[in-house]
Amino acid sequence: MQTVLILLGPPGAGKGTQAARLAGALSSPHVSTGDLFRENLGQGTELGQKAKQFMESGRLVPDALVIDMLFDRVAKSDCQAGYLLDGFPRTVAQAQALDARLSGATVRALNLSVADAALIERLTGRWTCKGCAHVHHERFSPPVKAGVCDKCGGSLYQRTDDSREVVEKRLSVYREQTRPVEAHYRARGVLADLDGSRTPDQVFSAMLAAAQGAQG
Ligand code: AP5
Ligand code: MG
Repeated sequence: MQTVLILLGPPGAGKGTQAARLAGALSSPHVSTGDLFRENLGQGTELGQKAKQFMESGRLVPDALVIDMLFDRVAKSDCQAGYLLDGFPRTVAQAQALDARLSGATVRALNLSVADAALIERLTGRWTCKGCAHVHHERFSPPVKAGVCDKCGGSLYQRTDDSREVVEKRLSVYREQTRPVEAHYRARGVLADLDGSRTPDQVFSAMLAAAQGAQG
């Protein structure tokens, strides 16, 4: 049976950091809608152009664009046995579209919570790899060599939406549009709440245990 793990939580909660580790541990592809949009942006596609203005201002890209892009990605053969979603769904409409597609699959949502002040500190100090999208933090997980990705040797950059002003907008969009997605999965009895403020290793252990519980 197909198993789909959904990582929920505000911007900066550690979804990307943990999804990369969980994908390795569970041998399940990591599908991040934010990374897919940034790839499109880098390649100068029409979709990337359409998403740009929303992402740079911290707003959500319209549902129809996100859902089409995501469904194209998860239709690929590597997702047949299941996959790990990072950054999707982010609205109740997206969650409903996913439900309709996944009837019969095992779904588990892992919800990371972290206080706003820590989220702001994490995002404004984040350095992302241009090559492989691996994330570092200038204080919490600094690269061995400044400006160079520990994982692939690519160059690191600061995302334009990681400025303090845009981070605050993203947090308010999260409260208004994405928080209701938690209730959606809680009502279905498939949501696990996890403390995302601990060290990355502690958060990883808790998430892995919750994910493996879902796989039975
Ligand atoms: P997206 O790329 O998904 O951004 P986000 O949800 O805002 O999440 P982030 O990537 O900022 O945070 P994260 O939880 O992955 O944290 P990370 O692990 O990097 O989306 C970007 C934009 O695309 C959206 O604003 C929207 O416009 C658009 N979009 C994407 N999906 C969409 C959708 N479904 N619908 C509509 N629009 C969509 O960690 C952050 C930092 O903290 C790092 O530096 C890391 O090293 C550090 N860190 C991580 N864990 C810890 C820890 N335990 N302790 C200390 N530091 C830590
Ligand atoms: Mg991310």
